Amino acid sequence: MKVLITGGTNGMGKGVAKVLANYPGEKNEILLVCRSVKLGQQTMDEIKMDNAFAKISMVICDLSDMNSVKSAALEIKTKHDFIDSIFINAGIGYASCRVETIDGMDSHFQVNYLSQFYLAAQLLVLLEKSTRGGRVIYNATPGGKIFWDDMQMIKNWNYVHAIQQAMVAKRMLLITLHDLYKRRSNKVSFIGFSIHKTVWSNQLNIIPTHMRIAATVMKALGTFISIEECGKTMAPLFLETASETLARSGCLLTWKNGSFKTLEEDEEVLNMAKRKDLLDYSIHQCKDGSVEAVLDRLAKYEMNY
Ligand SMILES: NC(=O)c1ccc[n+]([C@@H]2O[C@H](COP(=O)([O-])OP(=O)(O)OC[C@H]3O[C@@H](n4cnc5c(N)ncnc54)[C@H](OP(=O)(O)O)[C@@H]3O)[C@@H](O)[C@H]2O)c1
Repeated sequence: MKVLITGGTNGMGKGVAKVLANYPGEKNEILLVCRSVKLGQQTMDEIKMDNAFAKISMVICDLSDMNSVKSAALEIKTKHDFIDSIFINAGIGYASCRVETIDGMDSHFQVNYLSQFYLAAQLLVLLEKSTRGGRVIYNATPGGKIFWDDMQMIKNWNYVHAIQQAMVAKRMLLITLHDLYKRRSNKVSFIGFSIHKTVWSNQLNIIPTHMRIAATVMKALGTFISIEECGKTMAPLFLETASETLARSGCLLTWKNGSFKTLEEDEEVLNMAKRKDLLDYSIHQCKDGSVEAVLDRLAKYEMNY
């Protein structure tokens, strides 16, 4: 499988990259989409230490800058004929204040959701060419809401709300994309995954001291799992067959009692009119006619949109 991972230089994304690059009986190719050349190189070196034959490369992309995302999408499309799966994972967690991006958006909204909406939309054409069943796996958690009258959180910012809003947006989008594809040729699947335990990620180095102390106590009590355990849990989602992945498309999953379980979705996330509003808003924020064209092409097959 050729797997593209956003945020593969730390945390959950790195865990998935490490496990897939060394998966017994598989020769997976990993494409890291990362903002730092240094961390990208370090991650590639680390993976190659475990498996000298690992096929791994990187594309530099700062998700807080739409021009960088556009260049990365172009570079990927130039270098690759197909991709089998994409892990939409990169994200900002804790923040002490609202940071506006160069594109004038709330950082959590742009990094965790919008830039990756753009990236995935541009790369759908490569997923359609997968012979293994193209798929997009979204790192998502349940709950949260969209702040429809203040999506960029200018009036009322709170980092937890900002993280959760981006999660809701990802879950709404994956259902929309699933709907758009299901009448087409069922070529690409869209799956949300909520990890069952907190992962000991780089977030622990970013949070304030009092939170880190509490987390260290919780770690001693077994509340956390390592990035490698996270990778092992998630790996089957990237490797299963086309028919298996299609059967899960449109769902938000978690891991329980040794298998994947579907979580019930919120009414607002399922609401088609709300999802259409989010789609229109997202297309508008991308300020790039080619995204609209990609989605229009799919919409021709789905009369409801
Ligand atoms: N940890 C958990 O238990 C948990 C549970 C559920 C969901 N999540 C979600 O999982 C995702 C990953 O979180 P994590 O805990 O693994 O965090 P992490 O260790 O901090 O990793 C975040 C990744 O995102 C990348 N990233 C951040 N800003 C970026 C930008 N502007 N451009 C490109 N890449 C950027 C980081 O790059 P650098 O390496 O350069 O910093 C890093 O690779 C987040 O969306 C988080 O909300 C985490």
